[in-house]
Amino acid sequence: MSGKDNPYKDDRGNKDRSITRPGGGEMDFPKKGGSAKPAPGGPFLAAENMTGGYGAADILHDCTLTVDKGQIAVIVGPNGAGKSTAMKAVFGMLALRGGHVKLDGEDITALSPQDRVAKGMGFVPQTNNVFPSMTVEENLEMGAFLRHDDFARTMDQVYDLFPILKDKRRQAAGELSGGQRQQVAVGRALMTQPKLLMLDEPTAGVSPIVMDELFDRIIEVARTGISILMVEQNARQALEIADRGYVLVQGANRYTDTGQALLADPEVRRTFLGG
Ligand SMILES: Nc1ncnc2c1ncn2[C@@H]1O[C@H](COP(=O)(O)OP(=O)(O)O)[C@@H](O)[C@H]1O
Ligand SMILES: [Mg+2]
Repeated sequence: MSGKDNPYKDDRGNKDRSITRPGGGEMDFPKKGGSAKPAPGGPFLAAENMTGGYGAADILHDCTLTVDKGQIAVIVGPNGAGKSTAMKAVFGMLALRGGHVKLDGEDITALSPQDRVAKGMGFVPQTNNVFPSMTVEENLEMGAFLRHDDFARTMDQVYDLFPILKDKRRQAAGELSGGQRQQVAVGRALMTQPKLLMLDEPTAGVSPIVMDELFDRIIEVARTGISILMVEQNARQALEIADRGYVLVQGANRYTDTGQALLADPEVRRTFLGG
């Protein structure tokens, strides 16, 4: 497939954020995924007033996360703040005591993670997000497990987005570098043609160059109309590409604004961005 036909590659490597952000191109690729019913007006993802935890004690307290269509929302905050817990709650891996999750206007709070995938959610967890003994290609095939149609074109699109994965498609994912493994994990999630892609620390343990490269690819995915909800330790760099940023502290929203506004906020800088 040539780059021209690939919705992910309509403007590869373009660093001009003014044209890489809101709205994105409305391509055919993401439209096929998921069956969430559209409800014009609200945010694409509305996870609102989420309260809950793993046992008796709540970790999340009235936590709200929203993402508009084709936009990038980034969650930052200290270790143990509940960022991963919030992602699990959005994905249905945590029973909520309060709040709801709506995708494209449809209340999906009661759905299992698998049913949420069918509705158009893709989730890349923080750990154990590839099958190390399986090849790159087998990992991608696993990602398509819910699909009954021909996913070859989607796999081509993933290989076009991450060309190194095509070169290494017969290699065990466990033999790849950390950055390449993260590409496999993201690629696997894209195989279900999600409308919302959730990434928990996709750049953990990779070099700054690899991080920049991965962020560029994530921007490309968003430009195809897919919404992104991402947790990041590299807070500054992630907020640079964020349409919306959330600072989470002790399971609650502390600051919410555009990425640029959070980066410019002296209080946020001093407390959460190291000055
Ligand atoms: N499976 C679990 N069972 C019980 N407590 C957990 C579990 N996972 C995380 N926690 C606790 O929930 C809190 C938030 O953790 P987490 O969501 O992983 O934070 P973050 O991702 O922001 O670092 C921490 O106090 C952590 O110890
Ligand atoms: Mg975490």
